[in-house]
Amino acid sequence: MPTTMKESNKSRTEENKEAVVTLIEGDGIGPEIIQQTIRILNEAKSGLQFEKVDAGSSVYLSGILSGIAENAWDTIRKYPTILKGPITTPRGKGYKSLNVTIRKTLGLYANVRPAKTYDPFIATNHPNTDIVIIRENEEDTYAGIEHRQTREVTQCLKLITVPGTEKIVRYAFEFARSNGRKKITCMVKDNIMKITDGLFANIFQTVAKEYPEIEAESMIIDIGAALLANRPQKFDVILAPNLYGDILSDIAAEVTGSVGMCGSANIGDFVSMFEAVHGSAPDIAGKNIANPTAVIKATVMMLTHLGKTEKAKLIRNAVLKTIEDGFRTADVFQNQKNTTLVGTKEYTDAIIDRLGKNPDVLSASELVKPKSFTLSLPTQNEKKELVGVDIFLDIPNDRDPNVLGKNIEVITENFLHLKMITNRGVKVYPKGQKETFLTDHFRCRFISPNGGKIQHKDITAVLTLLESKGYDFIKTENLYEFDGVPGYSLGQGE
Ligand code: NAI
Repeated sequence: MPTTMKESNKSRTEENKEAVVTLIEGDGIGPEIIQQTIRILNEAKSGLQFEKVDAGSSVYLSGILSGIAENAWDTIRKYPTILKGPITTPRGKGYKSLNVTIRKTLGLYANVRPAKTYDPFIATNHPNTDIVIIRENEEDTYAGIEHRQTREVTQCLKLITVPGTEKIVRYAFEFARSNGRKKITCMVKDNIMKITDGLFANIFQTVAKEYPEIEAESMIIDIGAALLANRPQKFDVILAPNLYGDILSDIAAEVTGSVGMCGSANIGDFVSMFEAVHGSAPDIAGKNIANPTAVIKATVMMLTHLGKTEKAKLIRNAVLKTIEDGFRTADVFQNQKNTTLVGTKEYTDAIIDRLGKNPDVLSASELVKPKSFTLSLPTQNEKKELVGVDIFLDIPNDRDPNVLGKNIEVITENFLHLKMITNRGVKVYPKGQKETFLTDHFRCRFISPNGGKIQHKDITAVLTLLESKGYDFIKTENLYEFDGVPGYSLGQGE
């Protein structure tokens, strides 16, 4: 009994406590939708104050490539809940996406994006859709490690790690458990990327065993995305690595109404950030036509996160009642009976007028914060052995793989055995096919002449020899076995 009283006292305290939130207004439509959201928070007496930091276009233009002022990090550390408007990432010139920088620097590993239809009020082909997309937020190709290696070839590294994956998978299961969700569908492309996406899929299936009450479904991303677009009712929670999750959540947002209607939470151990799923929409900026619902919904998620569940409910119900009463911004206006086309500000006015009112038909499930968890997969301590090396060469001219293969064999025969050469992953030596298209980017796979282990000094010896003969090696990848299992993929046709 005393515990219950203490808990309810605690939640009352959270509810009424003044809290300071770091505010990033954003670019394009960002400032207008954020300002309207703050009007609602003030009218709802949410007890929030805002500490604004400089980030986005103005900071990029001042020459800071990360897009965030250095002193902003101290503010975020002091007030670790962030409300953020969308940011425009300038193209080219080495500018890094501020969104990705913030998510990765602050360890915001889980991106939670709920998408629910508002039928019958906002027309949809897919009534009764209620999905939450949980997107891994720090890894994958969004590690942003890219290189131009030759005149013709660029590459982007896709990083999928054991702890990073375990963290997001456990988060997804804990989220499903706390929120009464019945099924998680994990979408990857592990039929092609067997090592990276394969790791993600394996950890998903391993962790799933600890949550027997939740159905764990695995799906290849291409058919998964197609089904999400056409039969979204099939899904409950969808879990995906970063890039797929980004794409899937925009599909889910459009399928259920508009990108202007979906909010998202970026959750980390120390800091959390709340934002719309959409971008800065420069095409409609400053015109008072943007839909502020997405950022308002993100704010509702933020209030729940801060323990202000009553305020969250108050604002959420007012938004639903506004939709029921027919107020529509242009992106979702379909000239239906009893609907009125309004601008951003007038839509916000309508929400403010409805604070304290409840919707008659629409409902939204409250998103409960999942319980905290610890990483508990066994430590990876397999025996790791170096068994070969892939050396990538830039061959601008004379790209005949047979000539190249024979030359390389002569140069390296006393050190390592040339097993094959590939071009864009396809074997071209020995015994390639004459139809295979060739770029200037050749991978030479070397192994021990006698099978078994090799040493780092064998690799440096081969590199030195190649350099002495004028070959430009652009990158090496060591080939390892883990307890005898190859930690590398075969070449196509190997
Ligand atoms: P976008 O999401 O800004 O716009 C796509 C389309 O949706 C446009 O036609 C736009 O008018 C419409 N739209 C978006 N939000 C809307 C809203 N609230 N109400 C009504 N219509 C809305 O995507 P786009 O054009 O690809 O990106 C523009 C910029 O935003 C880029 O610089 C991009 O890098 C950035 N971006 C930022 C994100 C963030 O800060 N989290 C996320 C996605 C993109």
